[in-house]
Amino acid sequence: MTGLSIKPRRAPQPETTLRPATLADVAAMEALMAPFVATGDLLPRSNYDLCRHIKEYVVALAPDGSLVGTGSLKVYSTQLAEIAGLAVRDDQQGRGVGKALVEALLVDARALGLEEVFGLTRKPLFFMRLGFRVAEKEQFPLKVWADCTRCPRQHACDEVAVALKL
Ligand SMILES: CC(C)(COP(=O)(O)OP(=O)(O)OC[C@H]1O[C@@H](n2cnc3c(N)ncnc32)[C@H](O)[C@@H]1OP(=O)(O)O)[C@@H](O)C(=O)NCCC(=O)NCCS
Repeated sequence: MTGLSIKPRRAPQPETTLRPATLADVAAMEALMAPFVATGDLLPRSNYDLCRHIKEYVVALAPDGSLVGTGSLKVYSTQLAEIAGLAVRDDQQGRGVGKALVEALLVDARALGLEEVFGLTRKPLFFMRLGFRVAEKEQFPLKVWADCTRCPRQHACDEVAVALKL
């Protein structure tokens, strides 16, 4: 699914709950992200990296307790953070889970006193539905320094930068 395709709506899932991630979620987070890493929609994250940064993540849970979504807020400076590692299980997409995760991360971002959040994504239209605008990657040199320089796709990057002023 690319950012230009139309996402079909499915029945809303009001029973989905969100909470901060814990270390007990790490294995399920790895399993959830794996197919999207394989398609190149997400950058790979090691178990070590998820454990070290677990406090940055929120998770979405189905009524049976299974993990159906995750996302993180990665702080770069007193003003700026990135929404990263955002993923919703394939069979739960199109039900508002991704939107709920981003909105929860934006609440955290505002509570921290941040001024702007950005994302690098192949799904810019999803973010634009949530009020983000398309931006220049070069506006976020700390991201480029932290991740892009180590990314195998750095010379053929198809990700779009999106940003939201808080
Ligand atoms: C992108 C992703 C997180 C969206 O999650 P989701 O739960 O399916 O999205 P939602 O149901 O909350 O959609 C919210 C809105 O965005 C729209 N939308 C969702 N995905 C879209 C897409 N790919 N293109 C265009 N619009 C999209 C929905 O139609 C909905 O619009 P509405 O509020 O007007 O009805 C999910 O598709 C996913 O996990 N994709 C694979 C991993 C990935 O690409 N992550 C992003 C990396 S930064």
